[in-house]
Formats: sequence, structure tokens, C-alpha cells
Amino acid sequence: PEDVGIIAIELIFPSQYVEQSELEIYDNVSAGKYTVGLGQGKMGFCTDREDINSLCLTVVSKLMERNNIDYSNIGRLEVGTETIIDKSKSVKTVLMQLFEDSGNRDIEGTDTKNACYGGTAALFNALSWIESSSWDGRLAVVVAADIAVYAKGNARPTGGAGAVAMLVGSNAPLVIDRGVRASYMAHAYDFYKPNLMSEYPTVDGILSVECYLSAVDSCYKLFCSKSEKCLKNGPEYQPINLKYFDAILFHTPYCKLVQKSLARLVLNDFVKLPEKERSLEYPELEHFSNVKLEETYFDRDIEKAFMEHSKSTFEEKTKPSLLLAYQVGNMYTPSLYGCLVSFLISRDIQDLAGKCVGLFSYGSGLCSTMYSLHISSNATPGSPLSRLIGNISHIKQLLDQRTKVSPEEFAQVMEIREQNHHKAPYAPLASTDVLFPGTWYLDSIDKMHRRTYKRV
Ligand code: ACO
Repeated sequence: PEDVGIIAIELIFPSQYVEQSELEIYDNVSAGKYTVGLGQGKMGFCTDREDINSLCLTVVSKLMERNNIDYSNIGRLEVGTETIIDKSKSVKTVLMQLFEDSGNRDIEGTDTKNACYGGTAALFNALSWIESSSWDGRLAVVVAADIAVYAKGNARPTGGAGAVAMLVGSNAPLVIDRGVRASYMAHAYDFYKPNLMSEYPTVDGILSVECYLSAVDSCYKLFCSKSEKCLKNGPEYQPINLKYFDAILFHTPYCKLVQKSLARLVLNDFVKLPEKERSLEYPELEHFSNVKLEETYFDRDIEKAFMEHSKSTFEEKTKPSLLLAYQVGNMYTPSLYGCLVSFLISRDIQDLAGKCVGLFSYGSGLCSTMYSLHISSNATPGSPLSRLIGNISHIKQLLDQRTKVSPEEFAQVMEIREQNHHKAPYAPLASTDVLFPGTWYLDSIDKMHRRTYKRV
């Protein structure tokens, strides 16, 4: 199959949010800590009416309806999530309820877990299936969804929630590039969830930032060398650096970290250049010529100089992708795909055609990959690309239709989730009135922990 990649995308986020500037006051931290220091605007959250199953039911139903896809045309369905409510039963099997009327039960795939990386792993599985001898010509659906909540304290403002569903197949308008994926995997206790009775992770914040930045460095270095090798003998050969990408997107725990990451890519380009070219291209940074990347994760001078130097590149290639991360927060597995959606709705379709996009996926623990995709050059009305873009054009408006909630009420909702996590039987307390039309919600949990759902 040719041009294997993403044919359609659906993205959902909670209908309620809390304002980060109000949270700063409520948490009694200095003004600007969350809004400037972390670079966050609003944080979406779910009440006890929504769980990982309901988010996935909603996003898959909406993907199928909006794109007019027949349920019998799906041959693979995968879910990437770290929001675990059952140690055995997968979310994928819960989603099979949606396929009942079609009679289609011949659907491969199940759930994949590693922090924020599960969605990318699921996407790669789907691509492999389509490129394999097991492929039967049908489409794959890849779901990435999470509810990101932290205990009270400094990590709480980096929460969020959301879900993405992607239709994957051949002749796609977003074609995943082959042969250049670059991964970096290691054992780290930076962020993990050893307490199965709690929704909250155990986090070593500083270590998580160091792990993330070192994964950025490693993946980028390898991506560049693999891409250069691929292009080596062809007419399109060029050294790979940031200029190669029209946009570069990152898993986004909070926007400030992404700006720092883009600056690190510039630092990587700088370090890689032969000395002569370096002083020509970066005259004002020359005194950093002897830096060792692994010694610079928390070097303030370097960070400041390269953030300053990369400002316009950040504005051009990365900032447009941060709309959802800024407005909703860290969605965990969907975060990177939220960046993709944000980027795709940030420009005119003619300005997307033929563009090359770099993507960096990170999940603590840790798994990370950098890969790239090319956007189809056919942007004519009715083309696959224009259909994909048309079906995500409602996102900006939907963000404005959310309900703002006070930090006090938000804290109460967190308290209710905390107290009732894993409780059975359980009747959710929150109202369903605030949910967006078409949202699936948790109706009840019986004494055997069996969950039932209804739709608004
Ligand atoms: N005005 C402007 N900036 C401010 C202010 C203020 N009033 N107050 C603080 N800041 C700045 C700080 O200088 C700091 O900037 P820096 O990052 O450039 O050093 C930034 O705001 C954050 O302040 P800190 O005191 O360093 O933050 P804190 O220790 O409270 O926690 C952290 C930040 C570690 C990110 C925490 O929120 C956390 O643990 N989050 C979860 C883990 C996470 O997201 N890790 C990222 C990768 S892993 C993943 O995806 C889950």
C-alpha cells in the first residue's frame, strides 16, 4: 500500500476548565508561575461522569459519524492510554459495543501502555499492520486518551484530559515517512503510577524534565542521521537540521518545556556544525562552542541564549501547534496529536500542502520517538486533505463553548474523584447537563465493578 498514514482525526476535550491565573491565586503561588513559568492558560478536567472508557466511546463515535465511516470497514482498533481502571479488561473491548450493530467482530488490536507514549505505539502498530501480509484492506482506528490528574501541589497545574481518534489507512493525506523513525528508550523513575488505588502518579519533576530533554536530544540526533542516510544518493540530498521541517511538534506536558525543547534542537544544530560554519551562522553564540549537550539540561546561560536565538523559529514552526496544549493542558497520550490538530487548523490549507512535519513523542519511564510526516500536496476542494481539515475546523469554536469553573469547585471535583476511585457499587454525582452533545458518560458502576454508559 502507498502513502500509509492518517486519513481523518477526531479530537475531544472536557467541556469544563479552570483558569490557570485563578489557580495561581487559589494555590497561593506567585502571580505568573503557571501562566508565564509553565506557559499554561486553561486546564480541562473531567467530573466523575467521565472515565477513560467514556472518553474513548465519545471520540470513536464522533470520528465514525463525522467521517461517515461504516463500522464494518474497520479491521484494527487500538487504544493507547495510561488511565488504567482495569488490570485485565482493555478499553478496546469496551469500544466493541459500538461495533455491535454492524456485526463486525473481526477487529485486531488491543490496548498499549507506557505513560504518554501509548498513542504513538498504537499508531505504529496500525501502520505496521497495514504494511504487513496480515492486512485485509480495511482501515485502522487508533485511539489515544487520558485523564491527567495530579495530587495537590506543584504538578497539579500540569494536568488536563482529552482523547484523539485517528483513521489510519493507505492513500492518506498525512503520510508517515518510512525508514527514519528514531527512538530512545531507557529505564527511569521520572513519572510512574505504582499505586494502583490512586489516579495520581508518583513524580520526580526535575528528573522528568531532564529525561524529556535528553530524549529530545537523542531522538533528534538519530532522526537526522537516519534521514540523511535515506536521502544520501538521491537528488534531494541535504544535511538534516531544523530547516528541513516546516513545523516541529512535541509531546507537551506544558508549553514552556516545548519552547525549551525547540531551543535545544537549535543547540543540537549548533553543536553539530563544523567550527568555521558555526562562527559564520551563529556569531553571537560562538562562546558556547565547547558545550557538551548532556551537561546543559539546567544551564541557565545556554538556555537563555538559545531560547532567545530560536524565538522566531519557535514562533514559526512550533507555537501554532500549542493551541490545545495551552487551552486544555497535558492530555498525556493525545498531547502530541492535539499539537498536530492545532497546527493543521492554524493555517490556510494551501499553506499546508506538501509540508514536512516533525513529531516528538515522549512517555515517562521512558519511551520516546521522533518521526516525520508529509502533508499531501493536493489541497483542492474535495481532496482527502481538505476533508481531513474540514472535519477538524470546529475545534476552535468548541474551545470557546466550554464552561469555566472556579478553582474551589475544581478542587471539589478532584476530591470526589479521589474519594470514589475504584468504588463499587457507585452512582456518579456530577450533572450531565454541562457535557457537550454526543458525549458518552458513566451511568453507573454495579457491585461487580461493571460499568454502564449512556450518551447525551
Ligand atoms: N512568574 C514567572 N515565572 C515563574 C514564576 C512567576 N511568578 N514563578 C516561577 N516561575 C518559573 C520558574 O522560574 C520555572 O521556570 P524554569 O522552568 O525556566 O526554571 C517555572 O516557572 C516552574 O517553576 P518551578 O518552581 O521550577 O516549578 P515547580 O517545581 O513548582 O514544578 C514541574 C514544575 C516540575 C514541571 C511540575 O509542575 C511537575 O512535576 N509537573 C509534572 C511532571 C511533568 O510534566 N514533567 C514533564 C515531562 S514528563 C510528562 O510528560 C508527564
